[in-house]
This record gives sequence, structure tokens and C-alpha cells, in this order.
Amino acid sequence: ARAAQVLVASNRGPVSYALAADGTLTSRRGGGGLVSGLSAIGAEANALWVCSALGDGDREAVRRGVGEPGVRMLDIDAGTHADAYNGIANSVLWFVHHMLYQTPLEPVFDAEFRHQWGAYETYNRAFARALADEAAEGAPVVVQDYHLALVPGMLRELRPDLRIGHFSHTPWAPPEYFRMLPDDVAEQLLRGMLGADRLGFLTRRWADAFARCCADVLGGTGSTRIGVYGLGADAEFLRRRAHEPDVDERLGVLREQIGAGRKAIVRVDRTELSKNIVRGLLAYGQLLADHPEWRERVVHVAFAYPSRQDLAVYREYTAEVARVAEVINSTYGVDGWTPVLLHVEDDFARSLAAYRLADVALVNPIRDGMNLVAKEVPVVSEEGCVLVLSREAGAWEELREDAVSVNPYDVVGTAAALHEALSMGRAERAERTKRLAAAATALPPQQWFLAQLNALREA
Ligand code: G6P
Repeated sequence: ARAAQVLVASNRGPVSYALAADGTLTSRRGGGGLVSGLSAIGAEANALWVCSALGDGDREAVRRGVGEPGVRMLDIDAGTHADAYNGIANSVLWFVHHMLYQTPLEPVFDAEFRHQWGAYETYNRAFARALADEAAEGAPVVVQDYHLALVPGMLRELRPDLRIGHFSHTPWAPPEYFRMLPDDVAEQLLRGMLGADRLGFLTRRWADAFARCCADVLGGTGSTRIGVYGLGADAEFLRRRAHEPDVDERLGVLREQIGAGRKAIVRVDRTELSKNIVRGLLAYGQLLADHPEWRERVVHVAFAYPSRQDLAVYREYTAEVARVAEVINSTYGVDGWTPVLLHVEDDFARSLAAYRLADVALVNPIRDGMNLVAKEVPVVSEEGCVLVLSREAGAWEELREDAVSVNPYDVVGTAAALHEALSMGRAERAERTKRLAAAATALPPQQWFLAQLNALREA
């Protein structure tokens, strides 16, 4: 122990294990922005990634001592993990940070919440202890996201010598909203994060909101430095991956499903409450109502990959997405034209194929820390793609000039934006896509990670 020279901590790690009925374990590398950005840690000597065992396969792997070098999975009691992850992180902190509560009825901070909060503390302490155990003298430790907000403070107490950073991949709510949390909990969260030497956020807006929360609740941010690191798309990886044979094959299938001569409005999301998929579909329906000239000339390709299905609201939302897509198809569909192509099985190769052929990309979250789809599409697009982008996505701060902006709540306005996007001329579309791709790749994942690491090392 005490040998790791650089450490990362996150709830979800870079690898997961599946347990087959016959007892065999198979490992799988995860995808996504967080994992690809943090993978830059692999280039560092004596690096360690501390993460949580998430399913039965992971737990079994820990028990059998199976693992990858440089990754340590913590086998935290399953009930404690469920209360911390589903109860606090996904049902409370996610909602607070994204400002997603329907406030007349929710949230209710009752005894059940207090119980779960206890589990969240236990879970954070397990991470702090593991990191304290493993880190070499003075090593930098980069803690990720709202699951682990208390870790910096706890770790600082155990190991004052370490250089501690924390990065938030979500939005941060302004104090008017954040202070919905019980006072002691709000204070504990902020103090926990301020245990870090440096805090990172995806945009200026979230960093400012955090600082304002600290000013209101605690009277200031103390000696902690706050930085903005706008995670960008990995152009090199995407351009290579998007032209591998499995993507080419899916491109052919998609082209056939869409039909020759038709335009494609593409969206790709995890089915998150914050992604606003239902209003996106309603806006597409409104487009077909307002502009009958688009009927049979456009297809909405919507990939909505399941997420957090342990939570009832997510299951209900997933069902609502399918229901609204079906209503549009039965209202407008005719022989030979299905207006919405909804796919729910996660398939990264097919997402890339859709990026390649998209005429319009719809990215309309209610709120989003950054949204990497908005940054990936322009990089991969073949003929230029118009980006219809919510002003509530973090990416909007960087891409606003060349995107068509929308208010995510305004379905009629979004329909008008889709019409504008579909009508844009070839040359302007290509010009904008080029500029979007340049802005989207300004801080690729590896540099994003190294910039934080260097800042910590200089601390
Ligand atoms: C999104 C957010 C991240 C978060 C992740 C957790 O990607 O942008 O901030 O860490 O979701 O997802 P999970 O599937 O692990 O709950």
C-alpha cells in the first residue's frame, strides 16, 4: 500500500464484470466521456483508479481477487451502495444539481432520506479510507462527481499531505435551488468538496453557482481554487472509430430504414429525465403539423438508451418516450414512411453511424453539465449537420454561435428551430459544422485530465 503516485476515484470504474450462470466472469471496458478522459491516467506511472463494485459480477470479481492492474474495486455492502447511489446520488443530488424536482410534491426530506444520507456518508468514507491507504506521500488524487462529494474533506483529515482535486460532471444549482436541501446536508456537501485544493467544473455557469452556494451557506470558498475545464470530444478516436467496418455496416442499415432522399433528424441520449426526450418528440410532431411539406421527407432517428432502471421514475419516463413516439407514428405514418425510428438497445457503433448521416442533430436537454453528443456529431458528420442545441446544455456556452439555440421547454419554438435547421443551405451547414468541430475539440479528454493533474501538482 501507499505506492500509488496518481489516483482517480469514481463510482463507476473503467471496467465491469458479468457473472454467467456457469460461474465464469467476463470483463468489459466501459465507454463514455468520463472513462475516456480518465483513461489518460493509464499513461502515468503507478496510477490507481479506485471505483465501486456495482453488480454481482463486480462483487464476485473482488471476492475472487480478479481485476486489472491499476484498478481497485471497492466491495461496499450492496444495501449501503443502493441507498447511497440510487437513494442519494441519483434521486436527490442529480435532481438538485439539474434542478429537476417538481417542487409542489417533491422533494420530501423524511426519515428515509436521513437513513440514506447515513449510507452516503459510509460509502464516501469507504472511498476516503481506500485512497488514504493507497496514495503515496503528496500524491495527487482526482475525485469525480456528486457520488463522492464528501470524499475530499474526509480524505484531507486522514491524509493532509495529499493534493486533492474534485471534478463535477453535472451542472450545479444556484443557492435559491440548492438550499432546498436540509441546511446541515447542504453544509456538509459544500464543506466536503471544499476539502479539496482544487475544484473543477465543466462551465463557468456551474462554477459560479457553486461559489454562490458557498458564499450563502458558508460565507465563502476558503482557500480552495475553482477552475473551469470544458471537456471536449476526442477527434482522433472518433474519426477512426466511426470508419470501422461495424459502423459502415450499420450506416447501410440506417440509410435503408430512413429511405432514399429523406433527411434525418438524429438524437442520441441515455434515457435520462434531464435529456428532455419527450418534448423533443413533441416538437418533431409539431413540425409535422406546422409544416406538412416535411411529411415523408424526414425521419426522426431517436436513440434513447436505458439508464438507471432501478428507479421507478426512470422506468416511467422510458415508457413515456416509447408511447409518444408511437403516437407520432400512428398519427402521421403512412405506408413506406415511419416518422420516428426509436431504438433503445445501446449500440455505440450505430450511434456513430447516425452521427455520420445526420442532417440535423437535436440536443435539447432541460439541463446538462456539458453534453458530449453535441460535440461529437460535428466531428463525425460527413456532409455537415445543423446542431439544434438547448441553451441549458453546458456545451451551449462553447457552441452557441454556430448552433441553432432553443429553449428546451418551448415545444413550438423547438419545432420552428427544427424547420430552420432542415431548411439551411448546404454551404452554410458545412461552414458551421467545421467551426463547431473546431470548438468541440478544443480540450480533448486526455488534455482535460492532464490540465487538472498539472494544476494539482503545482498546488
Ligand atoms: C452522466 C453524468 C455524469 C455521471 C454519470 C453517472 O454521464 O454526466 O456526471 O457520473 O452520468 O452515470 P451512471 O450510469 O454511473 O449512474
